[in-house]
Amino acid sequence: MSQVREHWSSRLGFIMAAIGSAIGLGILWKFPYVVGQNGGGLFLFTYLFAVALIGVPLFIGEILLGRMTQSAAIGAFSHEEASGSWKVGAFLGIASSFLIMSFYSVIAGWGLSYVVMSLTGFYQGLALDQIPLIYEKLSKSGGITVMWHFLFTAICMGIVFAGVRKGIEYWSQIMVKILLVLLLILFSYSLTLKGLHQAVQFVFYPNWDKFKVSSMLEALGLAFFTLSLGQGIMISYGSYMKGKENVVKTSAIVGLSVITVAFLAALTIFPVVFSFDLSPDAGLGMVFQTLPFLFAQLPGSLVLSTIFFSLFVFTAITSAVPLIEVCATNLMEKAGLDRHKAVVLVSAGTFLFGIPSALAQTGWVFPMWEKIFGINFLETMDRLVSVWLIPLAGLITSLYVGWKVDRRELREQFMRGHQSDALWSIWYGFMRYVIPVIVFCIILQKSGILDLSMQG
Ligand code: TRP
Repeated sequence: MSQVREHWSSRLGFIMAAIGSAIGLGILWKFPYVVGQNGGGLFLFTYLFAVALIGVPLFIGEILLGRMTQSAAIGAFSHEEASGSWKVGAFLGIASSFLIMSFYSVIAGWGLSYVVMSLTGFYQGLALDQIPLIYEKLSKSGGITVMWHFLFTAICMGIVFAGVRKGIEYWSQIMVKILLVLLLILFSYSLTLKGLHQAVQFVFYPNWDKFKVSSMLEALGLAFFTLSLGQGIMISYGSYMKGKENVVKTSAIVGLSVITVAFLAALTIFPVVFSFDLSPDAGLGMVFQTLPFLFAQLPGSLVLSTIFFSLFVFTAITSAVPLIEVCATNLMEKAGLDRHKAVVLVSAGTFLFGIPSALAQTGWVFPMWEKIFGINFLETMDRLVSVWLIPLAGLITSLYVGWKVDRRELREQFMRGHQSDALWSIWYGFMRYVIPVIVFCIILQKSGILDLSMQG
């Protein structure tokens, strides 16, 4: 592999790509329902802390690792001498990318079907209490869900094939702006709903009853998931980065955008939940079941809902494309396949592996799954990735960067873009001690080895 590495043409190019990968279904679909299930306020703040104190420093770490080694995950983890078993970090990341893509495209596929339904004015003339039932019907229609799942996977595959990724990144930044404006409009409308008071209480006041200590791992996993960490994505993005850029500032910008969209999404969705007597812990279908209420009441509902769901799908595409790419690039390098073959294989793999997720709510495959595990197949995949694989990969990354990578080289990388010494020391301390200790404790707690809970 002695080709000259491509580089981002500008800092903006990098930020666009990073934001494109970060903002996706994690924020728009998953965040609201997980906040709902974990009792609101306290969970939200844990998530914010996790993004700011663990996510962003780790984000910086992954980028620096990539820029320093000028190689993608596996190469980066083999950079230091005798680094054999560290490569586990990279493999965990590739496995999670594959698993994420398998269920991601099921959700994005529902998004696609909402685009088409919006165009046909699907909820016009329906009684309000009928609106949430549309999602119920859709998620229980296996064949239709699989078809949309297929279509979404095919679109992403097409984009990777056509190699228009850069163009997509350009659009991504524009689309994220439009999404923000649209969310602001919906948010302003939510401010007028009668459930606002209850929603604000739910989102900002800690509810100790629902918050379990195990929710912390959930919050951490969500923070990693929404920042696209623990998957080697940011390592390879860092490797396309030229020398001089200020990584700290760039990472802070990405972290802030993610937090902003998360807040807007929560404060838009929960007033609807409380105004229309829906349940805040409704689960997977939350976005699909709540937002159409807003659309139905606003002028131009058809246009609004078409635009919203199109943006929803678009942000999903900008996140899904790198997921396919990570798996494909590694397959190319390891199995010596050509690019087209690798991309087809990965897409076919995620599609097939995604079928049980697509059928999770129909009871057609593994009918006993939910009885045994308490959650359906799709949720199980999501948990497996965001509660176990990604935090574990994050732990390995922080240990590798903090303890294995040459300190001088790392410092030199960090200081580019004029950082202060103090900031370097704080960050390095985080990578070495704070992040590993916190993540490790949370993992132990979750696996029942350590019991930190006060309620028992
Ligand atoms: N961050 C994306 C989201 O919030 C999902 C995601 C997780 C992702 N890991 C990733 C995207 C890795 C790209 C690469 O929806």
